[in-house]
Amino acid sequence: MELPFAESWKIKMVEPIHKSTREQREQWLKDAHYNVFQLPAVQVYIDLITDSGTGAMSDRQWAGMMLGDESYAGATSFFKLKDTITRLTGFEYVIPTHQGRAAENVLFSYLVHEGDIVPGNSHFDTTKGHIEARHATAWDITVDEARDTQLEIPFKGNADPRKLEAVLAEHADRVPFILVTITNNTAGGQPVSMQNLREVRAIADRYGKRVLFDSARFAENAYFIKTREAGYADKTIKEIAREMFSYADGMTMSAKKDAIVNMGGFIATRHRDWYEGAKGFCVQYEGYLTYGGMNGRDMNALAIGLNENTEFDNLDTRIRQVAYLGHRLDEFGIPYQRPAGGHAIFIDATKVLTHVPKEEFPAQTLTVELYLEAGIRGCEIGYILADRDPVTRENRFGGLDLLRLAIPRRVYTNNHMDVVAVALKNVFDRREQITHGVRITWEAPIMRHFTVQLERV
Ligand code: F0G
Repeated sequence: MELPFAESWKIKMVEPIHKSTREQREQWLKDAHYNVFQLPAVQVYIDLITDSGTGAMSDRQWAGMMLGDESYAGATSFFKLKDTITRLTGFEYVIPTHQGRAAENVLFSYLVHEGDIVPGNSHFDTTKGHIEARHATAWDITVDEARDTQLEIPFKGNADPRKLEAVLAEHADRVPFILVTITNNTAGGQPVSMQNLREVRAIADRYGKRVLFDSARFAENAYFIKTREAGYADKTIKEIAREMFSYADGMTMSAKKDAIVNMGGFIATRHRDWYEGAKGFCVQYEGYLTYGGMNGRDMNALAIGLNENTEFDNLDTRIRQVAYLGHRLDEFGIPYQRPAGGHAIFIDATKVLTHVPKEEFPAQTLTVELYLEAGIRGCEIGYILADRDPVTRENRFGGLDLLRLAIPRRVYTNNHMDVVAVALKNVFDRREQITHGVRITWEAPIMRHFTVQLERV
């Protein structure tokens, strides 16, 4: 008999979590204005709000914390981090930052100006925010297939070469760089193929443009290339990552995802001019160039985490768990963005809560229902997160309306996944009775989903 699959690690430290009653949750959620970001974490049983900064570090990473060099300038921890990044990516210039959006802020302060257009495969919301705040346009070039949640194709995160060509043919002079987000979070944690990265590079070269990777989940992307794309099965994750980055000019990185640290990020590039242009903004916003908002110990843990999570076994354990939750939902017929993504399952809320009108935010309503059912905290990646159009101020109902269940790395077991699946099934079973959603009572002008206040209709 073939041995079953099991995790590539064992557990050395645990943290208790607590259940609550439905009555308690009704009150808590009301107090939180039906926005799960406003809930104190102790009121959550299983927390799938994000996979960002919520992973469990390894014993090696914790050991690295003890060896942090906290020198203000020139700390050995910085050089360890820089060497690791250069080895994995080929990028020579490294600017540490305290997280991913800080990397965006520093680099875009140099690169993005009013009137610019930044084409990309589904810009993450902070990325879009940093572009739009500079009165530039985040121009989506994601493949149309990503919009059909039930279509099962291997690389649903791809950029559409024709859309990229079209925007460059018309506006090349306004494009400071092309952005490729790996994996494509907004489209469902879906990967981008090596073939697609090559195509984007070729088009960029034809127009003399540079390519920037938003690399928060690049290792998960490399895993999908290895397991799904012809010609890569026998290559290591590190070899695949190296080839991926060979098609880019630079990267921003939220290390809170694939480097499995609680806080951290960086910019890396092969171009001296990008480094020189951005470094002053690092000093201004983040800190001196050899720490950029991070402690020495955090840079040590980051370097070790990057190394560990570009090994196949760690990624295999992680991505199989996401797939496991997907299989459980399949048993119950619950529709999600197919195939299962690298870091999360994205429930297609408009296909579940068919009686809730879009103006009453189906995915947010499903987020609320799941929390009330079992104290499980997901997160809306839908109409609220999409913000209003900066020009018309209308809600943007054009995209998908999803409930994201993001799975922290090395934190929950498959028993927890079973609880999530059954809780969702219970909500799914009473979906016909859910006819009303939520309405906004207060919202911020940009990135409203963190602080929005809602009431039940
Ligand atoms: N880019 C991508 C693709 C992201 O998913 C995120 C964060 C960022 C950039 C910004 O990085 O949080 O370190 O400042 N995503 C988190 C999430 C917040 O829940 O998906 P950050």
